[in-house]
Amino acid sequence: MDDSGNGGRSVDGDEDAVPPPADFRERAAASDPAVYERFDREGPEAWRAAADLLTWDREYETVLDDSHPPFYEWFPDGRLNASANCVDRHLDDRRNQLAIRWFGKRGERRSYTYLDLHREVNALAAGLRDLGVEEDDVVTLYLPMVPELPIAMLACARIGAPHNVVFAGLSAEALATRIDAADSEYLITCDGYYRREDAFNQKSKADNARIRAESELSAAVVVDRLGDELAVSLGDDEHEYDALVDAHDGETVEPVARDATDLLFVMYTSGTTGRPKGVEHATGGYLAHVAWTTRKVLDVRPDDTYWCAADIGWITGHSYGVYGPLATGTTTVLYEGSPDYPDRDRVWDLIERNAVSVFYTSPTAIRSFMKWGAEYPESHDLSSIRLLGTVGESITPKAWRWYREHVGGGDAPVVDTWWQTETGAIALATLPGVTPMKPGKVGPPLPGIDARVVDDEGEPVAPGESGYLTLASPWPGMLRGLREGDERYLREYWLRGEDGWRYRTGDGATVDEDGYVTILGRVDDVINVRAQRFNTGELEAAIVDADGVTEAAVVGDDDGRIVAYVTTKSGVEPGEGLRDAIADRLTDAVGDVARPDRIVFTPELPKTRSGKIMRRLLEDIARGEEFGDVSALRNPEVVGEIESTVKDSG
Ligand code: WT7
Repeated sequence: MDDSGNGGRSVDGDEDAVPPPADFRERAAASDPAVYERFDREGPEAWRAAADLLTWDREYETVLDDSHPPFYEWFPDGRLNASANCVDRHLDDRRNQLAIRWFGKRGERRSYTYLDLHREVNALAAGLRDLGVEEDDVVTLYLPMVPELPIAMLACARIGAPHNVVFAGLSAEALATRIDAADSEYLITCDGYYRREDAFNQKSKADNARIRAESELSAAVVVDRLGDELAVSLGDDEHEYDALVDAHDGETVEPVARDATDLLFVMYTSGTTGRPKGVEHATGGYLAHVAWTTRKVLDVRPDDTYWCAADIGWITGHSYGVYGPLATGTTTVLYEGSPDYPDRDRVWDLIERNAVSVFYTSPTAIRSFMKWGAEYPESHDLSSIRLLGTVGESITPKAWRWYREHVGGGDAPVVDTWWQTETGAIALATLPGVTPMKPGKVGPPLPGIDARVVDDEGEPVAPGESGYLTLASPWPGMLRGLREGDERYLREYWLRGEDGWRYRTGDGATVDEDGYVTILGRVDDVINVRAQRFNTGELEAAIVDADGVTEAAVVGDDDGRIVAYVTTKSGVEPGEGLRDAIADRLTDAVGDVARPDRIVFTPELPKTRSGKIMRRLLEDIARGEEFGDVSALRNPEVVGEIESTVKDSG
């Protein structure tokens, strides 16, 4: 640490560094550079600042129990309830303030004050109890972006029933796997939802999953999203959401005081093998870290109108669409539709209409906005914006500048935030009122996060050299473990170094002289496309399942699209029929979200002498990038052929 007065982040020599805007800094939640030093000095104890943003039923004394690494326990003797923290405690000061403003695909609007939210969360919690849900029972939620989704999460949290949200776009097969893996006996879903013009039947997917799943469900709750447009019949153990809530309207359910280490939710995500893994988040550490970063990194205040555009079906929506903003007591926007429906100015229209002051989205979305053109944001009054955030993949300096210029009025801080399903909350980012930004670089680790970019031996790499991003000490939002057990948890994430345990993020990275990290992408078999994470093996197994296919390799391209390279059995004519069969197989196995954007048929896949598919090379080809010497391959001659096929197919 130096004494440059910006928290040890001297960027004097870097012309690209953008200082925190002075007027922003004046009002920022974090404006004192000493915060870095304080965390360095105090160690885990400094995280009390995060836990103290919460209301505890029993105050914690111990901050971190690290007696059994890498099984860490945060605030282990404290007790709290997440729903009380997100709802009840705001009633005194702002019960009539809007908590959620929802915009549906057909132009519908619904608003919930904190008092409304309290009433419905309580009624649903009472209803769930009535159906037999007890503390520690896992409830699976399979819902699109409707208010009932955050309400159901909070109702579960209220009675200490961990939720297991499954992204609505995933298939029946994927839902069945997650119900079984989570050992879940309860399901909340809906009749259907709109996709562009069409009404889409979600209930039939859920029914299908119930047939496939090994676990027997005890009860299901069905939200009526489509009204008369889709009539679904309910079985004896299926209950209409509105009827259940009406029957318990006005009842209150005492929030269950949970141990800080008790499970708040499980979230399935892709790992290094084909089977998804159930990431478990504990109540206290998770909520503390999420609340602290919502406040200090996204700078959200109760008087903001804040919008995180991510789907609640993934971790970003959990942490920064639901728990972070509601724990902060702000007004949050929930949008059901897509950014280009009914028009390409939908996002800007919503920002203007709601005077959104803090907006958080992904580089994929920003790239689309750029493609559509600056005239769309420019035709709206976006002067309410005071901070912009981005997450999910690296943002290019060009996209960063475009976002700041055309959405942020030229001067809003643009905070690039790095984190993962497993980290629970933001781990690397600039503090917008303290730390200079460098477009294209995610930034230094947050105070209290010990990020290190290391080589194969675990030694820190020199500035500019690439290595693996690791976290060398625990943090409050960290996963408490995997549903699949300790062994898989250890195997997936942890390395024992000479100086202690290292968490492996799975990302490659470089670090510059100022300690700013640049993320290079995954180094394992995971790809990030469409703001989601897929295991390549899982997708490839589904493709190989299609009749006539022998081998497949899946990569992501620059635009977040899925490109599949496929070889066929002799005698099989690769054509439209096979393309459809492959797309259908992926839709069944994983969901619509996994439909490939391009399928490239090739006689062979490029392989090393040991037989490993050279996915990196295929990725470079898909991205139209230069690639290195291929002479060490077993079959170098196929590379040119694949390249010309890709070019020809545009
Ligand atoms: C992976 C985690 C929680 C965020 C949503 C995705 C990539 C995330 C950044 C960023 C470059 C990023 C990493 C990470 N990633 N943020 N700011 N810059 N890459 O959560 O599905 O768990 O994926 O997303 O590769 O490992 P996830």
